Amino acid sequence: MALREVRTIGDPILEKRSKEVTKVTDRTKELIDDMIETLYEQNGVGLSAVQVGVLKRIVIMDLSEDGEEPVVMINPVIRETDGEQEGYEGCLSVPGKTGKVVRPNHAIVDYLDEDMQPQSMEGEGIFARCICHECDHLEGRLYVDLVDGPLRNVEDLEEQEDDNGEEAGEDH
Ligand code: NI
Repeated sequence: MALREVRTIGDPILEKRSKEVTKVTDRTKELIDDMIETLYEQNGVGLSAVQVGVLKRIVIMDLSEDGEEPVVMINPVIRETDGEQEGYEGCLSVPGKTGKVVRPNHAIVDYLDEDMQPQSMEGEGIFARCICHECDHLEGRLYVDLVDGPLRNVEDLEEQEDDNGEEAGEDH
């Protein structure tokens, strides 16, 4: 396993559409292992392959409390969303920044696991926010284009919170 460099805003690869994965090779497995290691090292909750410079539709998420239960999603497709939530969101590709984004509050996602077996996952709150954020990455979209109001410095927000006492969100 090895850490991979996280691409940051301004890098044109982040605006490209990632391609469907048709088979899991040893290289794909190595990429997945490296993405998991990179996600933990960066203290994020989600990471897409494009963020480490690989245009494949692979997403890693870990929303568990102890951060030891990575979920690997290959070719994820959001089948259903409903509800609405507004909250601060961050991105490992936009370091030090956070902004308020409206997302669905509930999502169901279909994907393939590492054995290319179809799976589904469903959740609310941070899960729905995270999967929408990651699927946007796969389409070449960054959350900064969805931000309602100003993009804030995480540091400033941590010192002051915002007017409503809300705090910066997790990085994806
Ligand atoms: Ni992100």
